[in-house]
Amino acid sequence: MIMAAMLLSCCSSDSEAMAEVVSPQANTEGEIGKTLVVYYSYTGNCREIVTTLRSQIQADVLEIQPAEKGLRYEANNYALGTQLLNAIKANPNDASSYPAIDPVTTSLADYQNIIIVTPLWWSQMAAIMQTYLFQSASQMAGKHVGLIVSSHSSGISGVVSDAKRLLPDVTWMGDALWINASNHSKRASLIENWLGTLNFAKAQTTMNKMSITIGGQTQSVTLEDNAATKALVEKLQQAPVTVTLDSSGDFEIWGALGFSLPTSNQQITAQPGDVILYSGSNICIFYGTNAWSYTRLGKIDGLTGSELRSFLKAGETGISVTLSLPSDATKIVNGKWLNGKWDSPLKDEDIYSLSGQKVSNPSKGLYIKNGKKVIL
Ligand SMILES: Cc1cc2nc3c(=O)[nH]c(=O)nc-3n(C[C@H](O)[C@H](O)[C@H](O)COP(=O)(O)O)c2cc1C
Repeated sequence: MIMAAMLLSCCSSDSEAMAEVVSPQANTEGEIGKTLVVYYSYTGNCREIVTTLRSQIQADVLEIQPAEKGLRYEANNYALGTQLLNAIKANPNDASSYPAIDPVTTSLADYQNIIIVTPLWWSQMAAIMQTYLFQSASQMAGKHVGLIVSSHSSGISGVVSDAKRLLPDVTWMGDALWINASNHSKRASLIENWLGTLNFAKAQTTMNKMSITIGGQTQSVTLEDNAATKALVEKLQQAPVTVTLDSSGDFEIWGALGFSLPTSNQQITAQPGDVILYSGSNICIFYGTNAWSYTRLGKIDGLTGSELRSFLKAGETGISVTLSLPSDATKIVNGKWLNGKWDSPLKDEDIYSLSGQKVSNPSKGLYIKNGKKVIL
């Protein structure tokens, strides 16, 4: 049957352009809105895809189940699966053409973005998923929707057509992602690249995170919960803050913030990665250790000692350091420095700001092009 399917679908393309690339919708805080992953899986491949997807984005998950259990869609040369699809094809606007599914209680009103993960059956969308989309088309209107299709080997253009027919009023995010038997084991990187083209920030933001950008590289900081960080977040909600810091004592870069924050000083030994408030109005970022009376602001996430030294430009003076909230820094990040290389799913020749946002009409200034900083 798979051979027959391959012959049937020999002319279908691997992914059909649905629209220009559209990003996930933002919520009122400017962060990526709530995302729901809806899937159906008969033999488990789509379930595995969803597990991988969930390890990369924050999303709730809804599994669609057929009302009639234990059916074997593949039996008798896929007779039942074919019969269900033919019934839909004959009368696509009639609700009774679609196989019954279990009632769904998840309200789509809570979500701005939806990712559909569905198997391909005979080059069409699996009938069970078609039922759900047929029933929920009006609740999905206006949402940003992405599509991932799993097949053995057939191209997915028929499934893309089904999706467009069933959901005429949604905004499609990018091209559908096709995962098949030969690349299913590489789904983590396929999904990561696909999400990258859609501008899905991997780690969605919370208020206990701040970003520090130095020389075009942005690192996240996990903030302490204290009066100083609350005041700092409030300040950063208005605009990012750029300060000029100097290396000192071979353990820190530090300098004036330009404003004061409430202190709760304690005698502590600052550790590499610590971000510290000193004397109420100075910021110190550590690549070594020092014991003093400080107010801790937070800690840079996940850098080794040598990565910290290089990120903080240890030993230099006049270092420009920008503090921002992750929603500023990550909502439109299209690229980042990774292990000393510019890493982006977009094209090399695209132009990026130093903090990784793609820029369409750059004015004069310093940008990133072909993985290098350039002056335009
Ligand atoms: C009824 C039925 C029809 C199928 N038709 C095709 C087909 O035409 N071409 C193909 O490449 N795979 C076909 N497949 C295989 C599935 O698309 C593929 O195994 C997919 O990964 C299944 O996802 P799941 O494990 O989440 O159910 C079919 C499977 C079933 C059950």
